[in-house]
Amino acid sequence: MDDTRYISSTTNSPTPFSTKWEAPSNIALVKYWGKKEPQLPKNPSLSFTLTSSVTITEVIFTPSDKNSFGFDFYFEGALKLDFYPKLESFFEQIKKYVPWINGYSLKISSNNSFPHSSGIASSASSIAALSMCIMDMERTLFPQIIDPEFNQKASFLARLGSGSAARSIEGPVTLWGKNIAQVDSSDLYAVPYGKNLHPVFTDFQDTIILVDTGRKAISSSKGHELMYNHPFSDQRFVQAENNLANLFHVMQNGDLDEFIKIVETEALSLHAMMMTSNPYFILMQPNTLEIIHRVCEFRKQTQIPLCFTLDAGANLHLLYPKSIKKDVRAFISEHLVIYCQNGQYLFDEVGSGAKKV
Ligand code: PMV
Repeated sequence: MDDTRYISSTTNSPTPFSTKWEAPSNIALVKYWGKKEPQLPKNPSLSFTLTSSVTITEVIFTPSDKNSFGFDFYFEGALKLDFYPKLESFFEQIKKYVPWINGYSLKISSNNSFPHSSGIASSASSIAALSMCIMDMERTLFPQIIDPEFNQKASFLARLGSGSAARSIEGPVTLWGKNIAQVDSSDLYAVPYGKNLHPVFTDFQDTIILVDTGRKAISSSKGHELMYNHPFSDQRFVQAENNLANLFHVMQNGDLDEFIKIVETEALSLHAMMMTSNPYFILMQPNTLEIIHRVCEFRKQTQIPLCFTLDAGANLHLLYPKSIKKDVRAFISEHLVIYCQNGQYLFDEVGSGAKKV
């Protein structure tokens, strides 16, 4: 795979610079679970970019005396040493593509819009926000870089830190992974879904139901690794390709019955992979299943097109068109809140991607 065009030059005139970017989280409709080196997906994935669940990151780049690279990382105002191994490995991966960074020391300060320890994965939004800051610095050093290339390389760098982060640069729907349905798709970075998006999806709602706000029992890197010798992995990759092909039509024709079938199957397949790996692991909690049953029952009784999806955790994302927001929100507050940890849920909706603050 030729990724050499993403290698920028080094520079002899280090410049102090500071920048601040906000990047959203995303929720996959067709899931990425299983990868190959170097952080390339075994199947393409497609996601909604969110609006309110964001990370805001400021980076101060200071030319370093010894012409060496270093960083400090602050989360919500406090030095956060637990994040260093993940960040160190991210910088190790990206240095080849941004060699100028070796002459700088970085002060990175991050905040999330969503409550701390809410159980919402923040690696996609945080790595995406950091990648935008790095690209902004690169554009200062090499002003010839133009917009589509800027986002593409930001997604390329983000992917090296966390695969799903590649999909948090643009919106409202992004696609990561080479496939025949879209010619500009790539395994190296995510691209905006390029066909005519049906209007119902441009302001789709996502209510995140917090069932368990604790730490995940297993990291997603470990989970991806377990797909290597998984008895059903080959079938899973074929299923994801087929679901993606079908979802491509749905994104254009707005067929919500089909949308629901694909999205819920994808969520349960992801968790089925986890429950059938060796060693197996179960991330759903009893209340996750309780809510799934309630959502399906509500849909059956009312014909309201509300559906669920899951990430790598016990929390649910409830997806629905904006036009039925009132009914769905009444259902959530009357019937689901008792299954939420501390009664917590968060409203979000489809959004347009990362922006400079
Ligand atoms: O980006 P990673 O390596 O944390 O993997 C995330 C995978 C899922 O969130 C479970 C699914 C997805 O496509 O976002």
